Amino acid sequence: MDNAKLILEGKEFQLPVKVGTEGEVGIDISTLRSKTGAITLDSGYGNTGSCESTITFIDGEKGILQYRGYPIEELALKSSFTEVSYLLIFGHLPKKEELEKFNYDLTHHSLLREDMKKFYEGYPPTAHPMGVLCSMVVSLSAYYPDSPDELYRNIIRLLAKLKTIAAFSYKKSIGQPYIYPRNDLSFTGDLLHMMFAVPSEEYKVSKTVEDALDLLLILHADHEQNCSTSTVRMVGSSEANLFATIAAGICALWGKLHGGANQHVIEMLEMIQKDGGDYRKYVERAKDKNSEFRLMGFGHRVYKNFDPRATILKKTADTVLDELGIHDPLLDIAKNLEKVALEDSYFIERKLYPNVDFYSGIIYRAMGIPTEMFTVMFALGRLPGWIAQWKEMRDDPNMRIYRPRQIYTGCTKRSYTPVEER
Ligand code: ACO
Repeated sequence: MDNAKLILEGKEFQLPVKVGTEGEVGIDISTLRSKTGAITLDSGYGNTGSCESTITFIDGEKGILQYRGYPIEELALKSSFTEVSYLLIFGHLPKKEELEKFNYDLTHHSLLREDMKKFYEGYPPTAHPMGVLCSMVVSLSAYYPDSPDELYRNIIRLLAKLKTIAAFSYKKSIGQPYIYPRNDLSFTGDLLHMMFAVPSEEYKVSKTVEDALDLLLILHADHEQNCSTSTVRMVGSSEANLFATIAAGICALWGKLHGGANQHVIEMLEMIQKDGGDYRKYVERAKDKNSEFRLMGFGHRVYKNFDPRATILKKTADTVLDELGIHDPLLDIAKNLEKVALEDSYFIERKLYPNVDFYSGIIYRAMGIPTEMFTVMFALGRLPGWIAQWKEMRDDPNMRIYRPRQIYTGCTKRSYTPVEER
């Protein structure tokens, strides 16, 4: 493809064009400032490519999502979360022996250092588990030094221990004793066991719930340069250690416009239910520019047709609830809300469709996972993606610290006045 031409103050500049393997076109502006003295301005980075990446491809217009070239629909059907984690981090589908070793390593690094349990004592039971998750993750850096020799082990430690940290924070919030990881269970089976077993009773992990959780984690595993992943790259670019970098990603995910939306979807549906179930009223409120209310779980910066993850989850929600014999009135409200919104010109014109968070909350609820833990589940799923993106950036010989510029619009130079004279 030809260079792009930029005309600024009558002068013409050539800018190279980079075309990705799926045909995405980017104008390379890395020499723009040195050539022209100008920068680009792109609030919210909607038009800015911050890196080249080989990990995840999204076509938001066509509703395509691929990890390392494999369509999400196929991975959701045929793969497992640990296999997808390997694929994202190491770039290829693991051979049998590679997957066995990876699963063995993940199983044998899931214990927390005993003294880390004391950290939980410092939190009130009402602490949001995302805050606890983030501080526990950064605390891992106190135990496991950052060194190139420890890279593989630190990646394994993080993947293996995050579920233990998450389960312990749930147990802390309900005042129950911690349940230790078990080596005979699958990754998701172990997580469920640590969350729901109690010492006095036998707890059998439900296959339906285990499979559904595995699917949810696969669907959340990566999503290219979203807010939390960009945060991970931003923080990691300063060469902060892996644990500190991932902790920053967890904080970014927490917000309700990002991963926190799954919790807010359920809170919204409960609010509509308590208010008599009049979902149409809430569609009207979401359209009203004088109201701050938005339909949580609707809209996406990239998907402008449908979110393929939401399509899979809508079907899964029906299957899981059926298999568990649960009738959740919130699922009926969600479906009605979706139907009304999708026929409404406001949502059609703005290309607002349900996103991954719209149905995931209903499934988590059916599994017995409390609302405050939903975003923690998202973080567990997104972890391999964050690690893969961080590793790709660290392995790039041209990596530079992330340092955007700005257009300054404040006061021009002025003199200081002493306080008595103001
Ligand atoms: N309900 C009502 N109106 C909406 C919604 C919504 N959920 N989302 C966007 N809009 C409207 C906006 O008001 C705006 O209207 P306008 O053009 O008349 O001003 C238009 O649609 C475009 O919205 P923006 O906020 O500019 O879109 P942006 O790409 O910046 O935001 C976002 C995307 C944050 C996801 C937004 O759609 C939103 O707030 N959705 C609800 C929260 C949510 O579900 N977040 C999870 C996203 S998925 C994820 O992170 C895992």
